[in-house]
Amino acid sequence: MLILPSNDTAPSEITPRDLFDNRRRFLQAAGLTLAAGAAAWIGAVPSARAATKLGPLARSPLSTDEAQTPFKSVTTYNNYYEFGTEKEDPAENAGKLQVRPWTVRVEGLVGKPRTFDIDDLIKLAPLEERIYRLRCVEAWSMVIPWLGFPLSALLKQVEPQGSAKYVQFVSHYDPKIMLRRPVLDWPYTEGLRLDEAMHPLTLLTLGLYGEVLPNQNGAPVRVIVPWKYGFKSAKSIVAIRLVEKEPPTAWNKAAPSEYGFYSNVNPQVDHPRWSQASERRIGEFRKRPTPMFNGYAEQVASLYQGMDLRRNF
Ligand code: MTE
Repeated sequence: MLILPSNDTAPSEITPRDLFDNRRRFLQAAGLTLAAGAAAWIGAVPSARAATKLGPLARSPLSTDEAQTPFKSVTTYNNYYEFGTEKEDPAENAGKLQVRPWTVRVEGLVGKPRTFDIDDLIKLAPLEERIYRLRCVEAWSMVIPWLGFPLSALLKQVEPQGSAKYVQFVSHYDPKIMLRRPVLDWPYTEGLRLDEAMHPLTLLTLGLYGEVLPNQNGAPVRVIVPWKYGFKSAKSIVAIRLVEKEPPTAWNKAAPSEYGFYSNVNPQVDHPRWSQASERRIGEFRKRPTPMFNGYAEQVASLYQGMDLRRNF
């Protein structure tokens, strides 16, 4: 049975205490004071929800039929460290992000590099609703009705060259409105192998719950890679680069022994400081076992055939 948190439950109260403490310890080890970071944002204007509807849209058959996490939890329990390191910080602070005008530069080893205006990007391919499980490395998960289209539709437009083997995603960074402390090496960067980026499950995401993305969820455009830990899904993307070598990524640079490049959801490979064997769906109290590749093994296991997934964690 789903037990939903009441409306006035603070996100910190629905976070398993040990995981909260683990992330705190990581940040403290990095010489950071959470309180100071949070204090810098006190008085910030709460994020105004954009009213722009994107739906109703056709639901992709790649959707799960599991119960969806309530909109309120999806939009108030976030990781978007540029806007603060506590779960409630992004909802409080990301309202400062200006999401129009916005462009995404797609460049690197491509035949036709191009800068896409966000309003053109929305029309590039038919938008659809994709209900995906999102499993965070912190061992909680949500089920979210995202809106978007396969990233492959965008990549095909720029004609990747044969030498392109990886894709790097670069998030927006503006020290005037975002955290200046070096919690991570800003701008936030992530990466995928080209075949992972071209996989039909990988979603260029422009909305959720029928509306444009709320700022705290990565407006105006992010990527969602449902078989990997949530941190692979970079928010508020301004550049996508096709490159030959495995690109550096923000969390891997911060703690290479904890966050590998692949970061496939794998219950057999624990995070060095906690187990990945189970997870807690936000809104539930019980823990549930975590499936391999976050339940998408049938679709993606072949991408990793012959690879040692303990070494390539
Ligand atoms: N992208 C940027 N730019 N900055 C971040 O801090 N956090 C990541 C990922 N993308 C992050 C990011 C992590 S750790 C997770 S779990 C997901 O975003 C959370 O997405 P959500 O807040 O929409 O649930």
